[in-house]
Amino acid sequence: MDVKEYDVLVIGGGPAGYIAAIKASRLGAKTALVEKDELGGTCLNRGCIPTKTLLKTAELIHEIAGAAGRGIIISDPRVSIDMPAAVKEKNRVVKKLTSGVASLLTANGVELFRGEGRLLAPGRIAVAGQGEAAAKKLILAGGSQAARLPIPGLELPGVLTSTDILDMEEAPPRLAIIGGGVIGVEMAMIFQAFGSKISIVEALPRILPFMDAETAALIHRILQSRGAEISAGAGLVRIEKGDGSLNLVLSDGKVLPADKVLVSIGRTGDLSCLGDVAIKTEKGKVLVNDYMETSIPGIFAPGDINGKKMLAHAAFKMAETAAVNALAADGRDMRKADLRFVPSVVYSFPEAAAVGLTQEEAEREGPVLVGKFPLAANGKALAVGDAGGFVKVLADKKYGAILGVHIVGPGAAEIINEAASLMAMEITVHELAEITHGHPTVSEALMEAAADCLGRCLHLPPKKGDR
Ligand code: NAI
Repeated sequence: MDVKEYDVLVIGGGPAGYIAAIKASRLGAKTALVEKDELGGTCLNRGCIPTKTLLKTAELIHEIAGAAGRGIIISDPRVSIDMPAAVKEKNRVVKKLTSGVASLLTANGVELFRGEGRLLAPGRIAVAGQGEAAAKKLILAGGSQAARLPIPGLELPGVLTSTDILDMEEAPPRLAIIGGGVIGVEMAMIFQAFGSKISIVEALPRILPFMDAETAALIHRILQSRGAEISAGAGLVRIEKGDGSLNLVLSDGKVLPADKVLVSIGRTGDLSCLGDVAIKTEKGKVLVNDYMETSIPGIFAPGDINGKKMLAHAAFKMAETAAVNALAADGRDMRKADLRFVPSVVYSFPEAAAVGLTQEEAEREGPVLVGKFPLAANGKALAVGDAGGFVKVLADKKYGAILGVHIVGPGAAEIINEAASLMAMEITVHELAEITHGHPTVSEALMEAAADCLGRCLHLPPKKGDR
């Protein structure tokens, strides 16, 4: 059989795979990419982009509901959702971006195989129905899949994954969400605005357990104030089919009735592309070092498949690093993927964003300066009617190094990039407090929170010891 030869072969056309392929090609390598589904992976097809499109629709509904408070008279204040139209708009945006990825690959000279790729041996893969291909370096970017639970009832009709829920033809009257993580909270906000009564079941003592406690508490209060019922610290025991509903039985004995159930309890690596080759894995993830190389030299695995940080922008960084390292002569000049300052965002409304350590983590490491600026004192946030949040800056007490930034408020997803940039450049809290920010903007609150760390914030009442 004819075996096609390349310098670099990439399995997976999501954010990790397509960036790795483009980078390898730009570095002069003869590169091919294998994708079994649509280009763009989870992010473009089932994650970041479709949810953000639906989220904008939800946010508009939320804003229209508050229009009267701004003096806008809407003679018929009833607002409802046309789900098929909302889904159509979501699909239009997804299509535009996935075809953009295809054009980028072509423009960069990457050859594309449509089919399932599987590792046969180091340096060799099979593409379903299309034979074999070989390359000195392989990049496995197979992504992730929804984690499954061995809980009775999850197979019932009406129990959905985060992919199924994106194409629903109507918003369910009662939506129960298992898992109060990022997907759970984002979907809760979306479907709450679409008119669903939301219940969230979170096994740990609080929702958003990986976010700063103050951020999680505020988002909890906002969800509740909009009518969500949150059961934290309670596990799901089983789901039973009731009379016209699904009944969720929780470990504390509570029974929650719902029309649909979303299961969003985390994701694990999709290891199907590994075939039978003995690459080291742990808990459903491929083990890689800081160079993104697996236990087999010459095989790299960036992105969700390694579970280091399941975020598209982290995948971009890991993928570019993997491509550079795949082509580094004899393993010399390999680069590490620096994931220390990768921001994370929960696209709720208001948005919640973070970079670096939570307050709990920072305080475990040593004495910490905590500066907090409530958006209730920020002109722009008040003007746009979204002033319930805050900006919090955590800094090392001795040197003022910024250890973490946490934001809940309008534009948090954008402002966090400024915080991440400053942290990457090792700007101290003393320096940040001196950087003039435009007024009125929400991002001035970042500078104000830095000043508050030092007892120097002039837009807050003085506290004992302030200068
Ligand atoms: P997650 O890890 O964010 O949250 C899962 C939640 O489910 C956790 O709070 C966990 O304690 C809870 N849980 C686990 N087992 C449970 C059980 N048996 N009963 C009740 N609760 C249970 O995972 P999620 O939300 O599914 O998201 C998957 C991945 O996708 C994450 O890695 C996330 O980073 C990524 N993602 C990122 C987004 C963003 O950046 N805005 C948006 C959506 C997803």
